[in-house]
Amino acid sequence: MANNGKKNKQNRQKGELILEDVTRVFRIPGAPACHALKNCSFTVPRGSLTVLVGPSGCGKSTLANIAAGYDHADSGKVLIDGKPVTGPGRDRIMVFQETALWPWMTVMKNATFGPTMLGGMSKSEAEDKAMGLLEKVGLKEFRDKYPAQLSGGMQRRAELCRALVMDPQVMILDEPFRGLDVMTRELMQEYLLALYRDTGLTMLFITSEIEEALFLGDRILVMTNLPGTIKTTVEVDLPRPRDYKVLATERYRQIKSEVMESLYEEATKIFGKLDSAGDLLGTCRTEA
Ligand SMILES: Nc1ncnc2c1ncn2[C@@H]1O[C@H](COP(=O)(O)OP(=O)(O)OP(=O)(O)O)[C@@H](O)[C@H]1O
Ligand SMILES: [Mg+2]
Repeated sequence: MANNGKKNKQNRQKGELILEDVTRVFRIPGAPACHALKNCSFTVPRGSLTVLVGPSGCGKSTLANIAAGYDHADSGKVLIDGKPVTGPGRDRIMVFQETALWPWMTVMKNATFGPTMLGGMSKSEAEDKAMGLLEKVGLKEFRDKYPAQLSGGMQRRAELCRALVMDPQVMILDEPFRGLDVMTRELMQEYLLALYRDTGLTMLFITSEIEEALFLGDRILVMTNLPGTIKTTVEVDLPRPRDYKVLATERYRQIKSEVMESLYEEATKIFGKLDSAGDLLGTCRTEA
């Protein structure tokens, strides 16, 4: 018990993610420029779980891609432990909205391919690590199955394991549970919290669901609609471990209404701006 506590504490030394004045404009010839992000700044403290919420199309995935090093900022900086992010790297891992498991590989092969090919881990070390993680998310018996033989929720769990085997400092999750049914989604949230508790990873979790944000996060960042920037930061000072009982507390209701107010103001800006059916085809703010 005491050893576990010490180990958990050591594991808690994971990376700090900082975005400083990140701006991203998409320019497509013949179309108005799209100001996806403007002077977006925030810090995800070491070993914390920060949730980013914002209306659809406000720039969440753009921000996630830049933080992960898959896209570049036009100006501004992304830093992990003070070091600038200039491209993808082993210290950060992204989990996407869509499944990214390789269909021709078994669950175990999916989980161990990255660390053995890129991460310099031996096959047996990677398999041991993967096995421990698969056990934690209830997939031990499915190690030799292919992704098509798994349910949607099982695929997401396998994906979390695949990402964690790499032993990243920072994990960026872009709506990883979108499209799952309510019960599976709630279960996935619990699995994620258990993995978070055990690894002490720094996590940036993106969602458009307020309840999910409240259940998971230490803090919630609410984004403005285009151009995307951080509008409000709400501390989620609800006790952990969290379970359904927290939903009945006064504090939960207070935080939820604070986030809702901020988020709905942004969402209504999109609808408020619609003055013709043509506007429904795009929400990009054009250059002045
Ligand atoms: N590669 C690209 N080229 C041009 N425009 C883009 C590109 N990627 C994103 N955009 C635009 O940038 C804006 C923000 O897109 P983004 O995907 O970041 O939004 P989002 O908040 O993740 O939306 P959702 O909640 O629907 O996933 C959108 O208006 C989108 O059309
Ligand atoms: Mg997105």
